[in-house]
Amino acid sequence: MPKTVAICFANNKGGSGKSTTCSNVGYFLAAAGKKVLLVDGDMQLNLSLAYFDEERVLALAAGEQNLYRALQKQADLSEYILPTGYDRLDIVPSSTLMSSVEFELFSKWQREYVLKKCLSKIKESGRYDYILLDSPPTLGCWVMNILAASDYLIVPVEASPWGLFGLSNLFEFLAQVKDVAPELQVAGIAITKVDGRKNYYKQTLETLQDLPAHLFSTHIHQDSNIEWAQDNSKPVGSYRRSCRSSQEYLALTKEVEQICR
Ligand SMILES: Nc1ncnc2c1ncn2[C@@H]1O[C@H](COP(=O)(O)OP(=O)(O)OP(=O)(O)O)[C@@H](O)[C@H]1O
Ligand SMILES: [Mg+2]
Repeated sequence: MPKTVAICFANNKGGSGKSTTCSNVGYFLAAAGKKVLLVDGDMQLNLSLAYFDEERVLALAAGEQNLYRALQKQADLSEYILPTGYDRLDIVPSSTLMSSVEFELFSKWQREYVLKKCLSKIKESGRYDYILLDSPPTLGCWVMNILAASDYLIVPVEASPWGLFGLSNLFEFLAQVKDVAPELQVAGIAITKVDGRKNYYKQTLETLQDLPAHLFSTHIHQDSNIEWAQDNSKPVGSYRRSCRSSQEYLALTKEVEQICR
C-alpha cells in the first residue's frame, strides 16, 4: 500500500506565507499526479479561501462540514473531505470557531493527539499520497496537534526584517515538542515574498544559512499574481501558469517531493 506523507506548514510569525505555500505546493503535487488532501487548520480560513469563494467558505465555516466539527466529535476526518474542483486535490475546510480550539483541547484526553487520531484512518488507507496541513501563526497545543500529526514540517519565512524575528522561538518550541512528535522531521525553510531589489534579502539568506535546518534552494519572489490568484480563489498555477511565482512554486514542489517521501 502506498505511504501517505503528512506535511505541515508552520511559523508563529504571521503573514510568512504558510497558507500561500501550502495551497500552491498542494496544487502542483496534484498536477504532477499525486493524490493530495489539504487540511485548513486556521480560523482565518485562508487555505479554504484559496480554493472556494468567500460565500462558500463562510457557509462551510458556519456549518457541520469543517475541521472544527470533526475535532469536536473526535471523528474520522474522511467524512469532512470536499473536492476542490481540481483533479486529485481535496480539502477539509476550516471554521472561525477554531478560535476556541486551544481552550477546548485543554479538557481532552491525550490533547496533543486529537488531530492525529482524526487523521489515522485516512493515513492508514493510503488513499492520499500527501496530506498538507496549514497552521495558524501561534505556538500552542493546537499547533502541537498539527506537528504530532505530521511527518514533515516546512517553515515558510518572509524575507523581511521582522520575518526572521521569532524564528528562534519556533525552533525552541520544536525542541520542546520532540517527545510529542518524535518522528517529525524539519523538511526545510522556504523563503517567501522576496524583493530582490532590497539588500535585506542577502542578509536574510546569511542568517538562515546559520540555522540547523535545510534551506530550499527555490525562493519565492513577491508577485502580485499571487494576490490576484487568491482574489479569484485559485492557486497561482491555475490562474497564470507562466508567471514567476507559479514557476517558483512548481520548482519548490519538486524539491519538496525529493525530501518528503
Ligand atoms: N509571493 C508573494 N507575493 C505577493 N504576495 C504574497 C506572496 N506570498 C504571500 N503573499 C501575500 O502575503 C500575505 C500573507 O501570506 P499568507 O497568508 O500565505 O501567510 P501566512 O503565513 O499563512 O499568514 P498567517 O500567519 O496570517 O496565517 C497574503 O496577503 C498573501 O496574499
Ligand atoms: Mg495562513
